[in-house]
Amino acid sequence: MSKIGFIGMGNMAQAIAQGFVKTGKVPAGDLLAYAPHREKLLQNARKIGFEPAESLKALAEQSDVLIVACKPYQIQEAFREIGESVQGKAVVSVASGWTHEDYVRLLGSMVRIQCIMPNTPAMVGEGVLLFEAKHSLTEQERNMVREWFEALGVVMELPTEQMQIGGAISGCGPAFMDLVMEAYADAAVKYGISRSTAYQMVSQTMLGSAKLQQETGKHPAELKDAVCSPNGTTIRGVAALEHAGLRAACIDSIDAVMSR
Ligand SMILES: NC(=O)c1ccc[n+]([C@@H]2O[C@H](COP(=O)([O-])OP(=O)(O)OC[C@H]3O[C@@H](n4cnc5c(N)ncnc54)[C@H](OP(=O)(O)O)[C@@H]3O)[C@@H](O)[C@H]2O)c1
Repeated sequence: MSKIGFIGMGNMAQAIAQGFVKTGKVPAGDLLAYAPHREKLLQNARKIGFEPAESLKALAEQSDVLIVACKPYQIQEAFREIGESVQGKAVVSVASGWTHEDYVRLLGSMVRIQCIMPNTPAMVGEGVLLFEAKHSLTEQERNMVREWFEALGVVMELPTEQMQIGGAISGCGPAFMDLVMEAYADAAVKYGISRSTAYQMVSQTMLGSAKLQQETGKHPAELKDAVCSPNGTTIRGVAALEHAGLRAACIDSIDAVMSR
């Protein structure tokens, strides 16, 4: 079994490590991690069960696969500290914006690389894990990494040039969905439902609608049509959303992300 070393143990790394362990994909004993704030690292080690490494160099020396889970701007410094110990390792990166090409520029041919873009629902096993199609892992490593990350949600493969739009939809998407949930909960509260009941009702409606679409494979318009009876109430709400420009607003939100 491969030893997996986390460079950084913040929110995303904890979600990944916990997902691996909880689903039994990787035993906690095969996980190591390094992060600069020692006390926080030790606390997480007690919670998740990984072995805390003394330094980045020690982490790299003891690991077969390194998972880059520090902030994107910390990556160069981290690899400078690791130095030659990275030689021959498989490097899996979850850092936003970093592509296979960026790692090749930084590390040359010393390592084998896979870039992945996760999103926050990965924390509850319902994430979207975008795998950059261009990688340099061996086939066996790729299959193994893919299987590990399936613990966190749905793995999808995208060509490099689509990783940015993929990240805009799945990475920024949770914030957009949250805004919609909040807005409908406000409407429920306006008409007398308690705040906590409102959030539960709205989030379950969103979850259920998503599941219904996934399990039936039906076009969203078909599902919407099924709820809209002639001269009924739902179609009035749909017309109000169209009037307010919901579709254009959704597309605009992605244009705003992509033009940054
Ligand atoms: N959170 C998300 O929703 C999300 C989604 C997609 C992608 N990502 C990517 O996941 C990565 C981590 O994000 P996050 O939200 O988990 O950030 P975070 O909670 O701030 O965690 C960053 C981690 O990096 C550690 N770190 C700082 N400097 C380091 C160094 N020189 N060497 C090794 N570790 C170092 C920090 O340690 P200390 O705490 O000890 O300082 C901390 O454990 C980012 O690259 C981000 O782009 C995150």
